[in-house]
Amino acid sequence: MAKKLRIGALASGGGTNLQSIIDRCGDGTLSAEIALVISNNPDAGALARAEKAGIPCQCIDHRRFENREDFDRAMVAALQEAGVELVVLAGFMRLISQVFLDAFPQRIMNIHPALLPAFPGLHVQRKALEYGARFAGCTVHFVDTGVDTGPIIIQAVVPVLDDDSEKTLADRILTQEHLIYPRAIQLFAENRLRIKGRRVRIEPPLDPPEQAMTNPPL
Ligand code: GRF
Repeated sequence: MAKKLRIGALASGGGTNLQSIIDRCGDGTLSAEIALVISNNPDAGALARAEKAGIPCQCIDHRRFENREDFDRAMVAALQEAGVELVVLAGFMRLISQVFLDAFPQRIMNIHPALLPAFPGLHVQRKALEYGARFAGCTVHFVDTGVDTGPIIIQAVVPVLDDDSEKTLADRILTQEHLIYPRAIQLFAENRLRIKGRRVRIEPPLDPPEQAMTNPPL
Protein backbone atom coordinates (compact mmCIF):
# COMPACT_ATOMS: atom_id res chain seq x y z
CA MET A 1 0.00 0.00 0.00
CA ALA A 2 1.27 3.52 -0.83
CA LYS A 3 2.69 5.51 2.06
CA LYS A 4 0.11 7.80 3.64
CA LEU A 5 0.70 11.53 3.90
CA ARG A 6 1.28 12.55 7.51
CA ILE A 7 -0.86 15.57 8.41
CA GLY A 8 -0.61 17.90 11.38
CA ALA A 9 -3.81 19.83 12.13
CA LEU A 10 -4.00 23.09 14.07
CA ALA A 11 -7.43 24.09 15.39
CA SER A 12 -8.75 26.56 17.95
CA GLY A 13 -12.49 25.89 17.92
CA GLY A 14 -15.22 23.35 17.40
CA GLY A 15 -13.30 21.40 14.81
CA THR A 16 -15.92 20.47 12.22
CA ASN A 17 -13.33 20.84 9.45
CA LEU A 18 -10.98 18.63 11.44
CA GLN A 19 -13.82 16.12 11.73
CA SER A 20 -14.35 16.08 7.96
CA ILE A 21 -10.64 15.29 7.49
CA ILE A 22 -10.77 12.58 10.18
CA ASP A 23 -13.81 11.05 8.47
CA ARG A 24 -12.28 11.08 4.97
CA CYS A 25 -9.07 9.51 6.32
CA GLY A 26 -11.29 6.91 7.98
CA ASP A 27 -13.28 5.98 4.87
CA GLY A 28 -10.20 5.93 2.65
CA THR A 29 -11.10 8.84 0.31
CA LEU A 30 -8.11 10.65 1.78
CA SER A 31 -4.87 8.69 1.66
CA ALA A 32 -3.49 10.47 4.68
CA GLU A 33 -3.30 10.04 8.40
CA ILE A 34 -3.50 12.74 11.03
CA ALA A 35 -0.28 12.36 12.98
CA LEU A 36 -0.98 15.15 15.45
CA VAL A 37 -3.66 17.69 16.37
CA ILE A 38 -2.56 20.84 18.18
CA SER A 39 -4.83 23.43 19.73
CA ASN A 40 -3.89 26.66 21.43
CA ASN A 41 -7.21 26.51 23.29
CA PRO A 42 -7.57 23.93 26.08
CA ASP A 43 -11.36 23.94 25.65
CA ALA A 44 -11.37 23.42 21.88
CA GLY A 45 -13.92 20.92 20.63
CA ALA A 46 -11.24 19.91 18.13
CA LEU A 47 -9.20 18.31 20.93
CA ALA A 48 -12.18 16.26 22.07
CA ARG A 49 -12.79 15.14 18.47
CA ALA A 50 -9.14 14.05 18.12
CA GLU A 51 -9.25 12.15 21.41
CA LYS A 52 -12.45 10.39 20.40
CA ALA A 53 -10.82 9.32 17.13
CA GLY A 54 -7.69 8.10 18.94
CA ILE A 55 -5.48 10.72 17.29
CA PRO A 56 -2.50 12.11 19.23
CA CYS A 57 -3.30 15.64 20.35
CA GLN A 58 -1.68 18.39 22.36
CA CYS A 59 -2.76 21.70 23.78
CA ILE A 60 -0.02 24.28 23.36
CA ASP A 61 -1.44 27.37 25.01
CA HIS A 62 -0.12 30.51 23.31
CA ARG A 63 -0.55 32.44 26.58
CA ARG A 64 2.39 30.52 28.05
CA PHE A 65 4.80 32.10 25.55
CA GLU A 66 6.41 35.53 25.54
CA ASN A 67 6.05 36.02 21.80
CA ARG A 68 4.65 34.52 18.62
CA GLU A 69 7.99 33.06 17.51
CA ASP A 70 8.50 31.06 20.70
CA PHE A 71 4.92 29.74 20.46
CA ASP A 72 5.53 28.76 16.84
CA ARG A 73 8.85 27.06 17.71
CA ALA A 74 7.03 24.87 20.24
CA MET A 75 4.40 23.89 17.64
CA VAL A 76 7.03 23.24 14.96
CA ALA A 77 9.02 21.00 17.34
CA ALA A 78 5.92 18.93 18.12
CA LEU A 79 4.93 18.66 14.44
CA GLN A 80 8.44 17.65 13.36
CA GLU A 81 8.65 15.14 16.18
CA ALA A 82 5.44 13.60 14.81
CA GLY A 83 6.92 13.42 11.30
CA VAL A 84 4.34 15.79 9.83
CA GLU A 85 4.63 16.50 6.07
CA LEU A 86 1.65 18.84 5.61
CA VAL A 87 0.16 21.27 8.14
CA VAL A 88 -3.54 22.08 7.84
CA LEU A 89 -5.00 25.06 9.67
CA ALA A 90 -8.58 24.19 10.53
CA GLY A 91 -10.12 27.14 12.30
CA PHE A 92 -6.79 28.09 13.87
CA MET A 93 -7.24 31.59 15.26
CA ARG A 94 -3.58 32.67 15.60
CA LEU A 95 -1.39 34.27 12.95
CA ILE A 96 1.65 32.19 12.16
CA SER A 97 5.14 33.68 11.97
CA GLN A 98 8.03 33.34 9.55
CA VAL A 99 9.51 30.74 11.92
CA PHE A 100 6.57 28.46 11.14
CA LEU A 101 6.55 29.22 7.40
CA ASP A 102 10.29 28.45 7.15
CA ALA A 103 9.80 25.09 8.86
CA PHE A 104 7.08 23.98 6.40
CA PRO A 105 7.67 25.88 3.13
CA GLN A 106 4.68 25.49 0.77
CA ARG A 107 3.39 22.83 3.13
CA ILE A 108 0.79 24.76 5.10
CA MET A 109 -2.85 25.03 4.01
CA ASN A 110 -5.71 27.08 5.38
CA ILE A 111 -9.46 27.15 4.84
CA HIS A 112 -11.26 30.48 4.80
CA PRO A 113 -15.05 30.96 4.69
CA ALA A 114 -15.12 33.51 1.86
CA LEU A 115 -14.33 33.73 -1.82
CA LEU A 116 -10.86 35.22 -1.55
CA PRO A 117 -9.58 37.78 -2.29
CA ALA A 118 -12.97 39.18 -1.18
CA PHE A 119 -13.39 39.36 2.58
CA PRO A 120 -10.15 38.22 4.23
CA GLY A 121 -9.97 38.30 8.04
CA LEU A 122 -12.78 37.79 10.54
CA HIS A 123 -16.62 37.85 10.50
CA VAL A 124 -16.59 37.39 6.76
CA GLN A 125 -20.05 35.87 6.36
CA ARG A 126 -21.51 39.01 8.00
CA LYS A 127 -19.39 41.17 5.73
CA ALA A 128 -20.62 39.33 2.62
CA LEU A 129 -24.23 39.85 3.75
CA GLU A 130 -23.69 43.52 4.61
CA TYR A 131 -21.99 44.12 1.29
CA GLY A 132 -24.93 42.60 -0.57
CA ALA A 133 -22.86 39.97 -2.36
CA ARG A 134 -24.99 37.53 -4.37
CA PHE A 135 -22.47 34.72 -3.96
CA ALA A 136 -20.32 33.68 -1.04
CA GLY A 137 -18.21 30.59 -0.53
CA CYS A 138 -14.98 29.21 0.78
CA THR A 139 -11.35 28.92 -0.23
CA VAL A 140 -8.53 26.49 0.50
CA HIS A 141 -5.17 28.13 -0.03
CA PHE A 142 -1.51 27.71 0.75
CA VAL A 143 -0.37 29.95 3.58
CA ASP A 144 2.10 32.77 3.03
CA THR A 145 3.09 35.75 5.18
CA GLY A 146 -0.16 37.65 4.65
CA VAL A 147 -3.61 37.24 6.14
CA ASP A 148 -5.58 34.87 3.86
CA THR A 149 -3.43 35.82 0.87
CA GLY A 150 -1.64 32.65 -0.27
CA PRO A 151 -2.04 30.81 -3.60
CA ILE A 152 -5.57 29.42 -4.04
CA ILE A 153 -6.04 25.67 -4.46
CA ILE A 154 -9.82 25.22 -4.59
CA GLN A 155 -12.94 27.32 -4.04
CA ALA A 156 -16.63 26.51 -3.66
CA VAL A 157 -19.41 29.00 -4.37
CA VAL A 158 -22.79 29.21 -2.64
CA PRO A 159 -25.66 31.63 -3.28
CA VAL A 160 -26.57 34.28 -0.73
CA LEU A 161 -30.34 34.09 -0.15
CA ASP A 162 -32.66 37.01 0.63
CA ASP A 163 -33.58 35.75 4.08
CA ASP A 164 -30.11 34.59 5.08
CA SER A 165 -28.79 35.32 8.55
CA GLU A 166 -25.10 35.18 9.33
CA LYS A 167 -25.75 31.69 10.74
CA THR A 168 -27.65 30.26 7.76
CA LEU A 169 -25.04 31.58 5.36
CA ALA A 170 -22.16 30.28 7.51
CA ASP A 171 -23.79 26.83 7.66
CA ARG A 172 -24.23 26.73 3.88
CA ILE A 173 -20.58 27.66 3.43
CA LEU A 174 -19.43 25.18 6.11
CA THR A 175 -21.08 22.30 4.26
CA GLN A 176 -18.86 23.12 1.28
CA GLU A 177 -15.77 23.58 3.48
CA HIS A 178 -16.14 19.98 4.59
CA LEU A 179 -16.02 18.87 0.95
CA ILE A 180 -13.23 21.02 -0.45
CA TYR A 181 -10.67 20.78 2.35
CA PRO A 182 -10.26 16.99 2.16
CA ARG A 183 -10.20 17.32 -1.65
CA ALA A 184 -7.34 19.85 -1.57
CA ILE A 185 -5.41 17.66 0.86
CA GLN A 186 -5.90 14.61 -1.36
CA LEU A 187 -4.55 16.54 -4.37
CA PHE A 188 -1.49 17.40 -2.27
CA ALA A 189 -1.15 13.76 -1.15
CA GLU A 190 -1.18 12.72 -4.81
CA ASN A 191 1.59 15.29 -5.49
CA ARG A 192 -0.63 17.03 -8.06
CA LEU A 193 -0.30 20.64 -6.88
CA ARG A 194 2.26 22.90 -8.56
CA ILE A 195 2.62 26.46 -7.27
CA LYS A 196 3.53 28.90 -10.06
CA GLY A 197 3.64 32.39 -8.57
CA ARG A 198 0.13 33.11 -7.32
CA ARG A 199 -1.44 30.28 -9.30
CA VAL A 200 -1.74 26.66 -8.34
CA ARG A 201 -1.84 24.20 -11.25
CA ILE A 202 -3.28 20.73 -10.88
CA GLU A 203 -1.35 18.05 -12.79
CA PRO A 204 -2.90 16.34 -14.62
CA PRO A 205 -5.65 18.98 -14.84
CA LEU A 206 -9.24 18.37 -13.82
CA ASP A 207 -12.11 19.49 -16.04
CA PRO A 208 -13.37 22.96 -15.07
CA PRO A 209 -17.11 23.54 -14.50
CA GLU A 210 -19.00 23.86 -17.78
CA GLN A 211 -21.45 26.54 -16.79
CA ALA A 212 -21.39 29.98 -15.28
CA MET A 213 -23.74 30.58 -12.34
CA THR A 214 -25.94 33.60 -11.93
CA ASN A 215 -27.90 34.67 -8.89
CA PRO A 216 -30.71 35.44 -9.44
CA PRO A 217 -30.93 33.06 -12.43
CA LEU A 218 -31.30 34.45 -15.95
C1 GRF B 1 -14.41 27.67 9.51
O1 GRF B 1 -15.45 28.49 8.99
C2 GRF B 1 -13.12 27.96 8.79
O2 GRF B 1 -13.29 28.30 7.47
C3 GRF B 1 -12.60 29.12 9.57
O3 GRF B 1 -12.92 28.86 10.90
C4 GRF B 1 -14.07 28.02 10.96
C5 GRF B 1 -13.70 26.83 11.76
O4 GRF B 1 -14.78 25.97 11.99
N1 GRF B 1 -11.18 29.30 9.31
P1 GRF B 1 -14.51 24.54 12.59
O5 GRF B 1 -13.75 24.71 13.90
O6 GRF B 1 -13.74 23.73 11.58
O7 GRF B 1 -15.89 23.97 12.84
